[in-house]
Amino acid sequence: MSTVLAHARPLDVLSDFPAIPEGWAYLDTAATAQKPRPVIDAITRGYAETYATVHRGVYQRSADMTLAFEASRRRVAKFIGAPSSDEIVFVRGATEAINLVAHSWGASLKPGDRILLSTLEHHSNIVPWQLLRDRTGIAIDVAPLTGDGRIDLDAMEAMLTPQHKLVALAHVSNVLGSVLDARHAAEIAHAVGAKLLLDGCQAVPRLAVDVQALGCDFYAFSGHKLYGPTGIGVLWARAEILDAMPPWHGGGAMIDRVTFEKTTYAPPPARFEAGTPHVVGVLGLHAAIDYVDSIGIDMIYAHERALVKLTREALHGINSLRLFGPDDSAGIVSFAIEGVHPHDIGTILDEERVAIRAGHHCAQPLMEHLGVPATARASFGVYNGDQDVAALVRGLERVARIFG
Ligand SMILES: Cc1ncc(COP(=O)(O)O)c(C=O)c1O
Repeated sequence: MSTVLAHARPLDVLSDFPAIPEGWAYLDTAATAQKPRPVIDAITRGYAETYATVHRGVYQRSADMTLAFEASRRRVAKFIGAPSSDEIVFVRGATEAINLVAHSWGASLKPGDRILLSTLEHHSNIVPWQLLRDRTGIAIDVAPLTGDGRIDLDAMEAMLTPQHKLVALAHVSNVLGSVLDARHAAEIAHAVGAKLLLDGCQAVPRLAVDVQALGCDFYAFSGHKLYGPTGIGVLWARAEILDAMPPWHGGGAMIDRVTFEKTTYAPPPARFEAGTPHVVGVLGLHAAIDYVDSIGIDMIYAHERALVKLTREALHGINSLRLFGPDDSAGIVSFAIEGVHPHDIGTILDEERVAIRAGHHCAQPLMEHLGVPATARASFGVYNGDQDVAALVRGLERVARIFG
């Protein structure tokens, strides 16, 4: 075991995370990432020193905050390779981003149109499309998975028809960690004239994302999984797509001119950002991206891949333990132990100061496909090291002893 564990080089950033006490193995980053000091400081500064509203104040403080807010939008654009910051829409998170697309872009769909999802999608990339189906009469198809838990792109290609207007897929599965070949998915979708939406919630914190190189049309992610604050996320879409999309929320900030007879709307991204935005959340997201870049996303990817490898190798040795997902998963390992409910695994691990997630992970159709009600899931972040894998393995050995 110790020879295997020697492979994962630590990133040595644990001391940046004040909410991780010594000896606590936090293995639930796929749910939400812990926050590094620079992000906490940016949030504190935003409220304690520089706070003001944006876009409408005539006083200097508000003008300065507006500059900082818009600089953050440019930072996000650069981080994901968007050609223009006008293509970056701030939302509450990936869930809101996908709902925005379903409401606004989806409003032009009609009976006979189809969209295609996959078996491994998070509920937030299923339910908004079902709500759209109920409003418009479109049909939803579901691409199957390969035996090792990837979206089966060959099967998807065979399913797609000119009736398909959208393919919406997770870039990285939140349960299996499987990484989508997004470029190939884009080619297949575009070949029938469909757009590709990528749910990048689990991808953006763990691998380099360049929306232009991926060839997708929409990209959604949440700040809180990227070491940033909760309540802030991003929808990216190509400028020409955003330009053609109607607003979905009405209110301040998204208008051009309002009379009781008629309202005209601001161009994107303002058209989709009704109301006072999460000003300080945006600043926190900026700090989070700077933090991730200071480590290097490629380093983070390699680090998490090494931890996944260690974990999978170590868990292979535990009796009656079933591993899900492919060996080259990005940062996430799901498993089950025969005869033990994942909640019991989670509770015993908690006693050992190991925090994992146990449940359906908002992916009930995937649980049904796997034939389990729930899984236990360990997911990694920059602060994890081989000591956390060792603690997980010790805890699981105790689970095995308790349950015989
Ligand atoms: C793949 C995936 N998509 C979407 C979401 C939803 O993100 P949020 O709850 O931050 O909107 C999550 C969160 O768990 C996720 O893992």
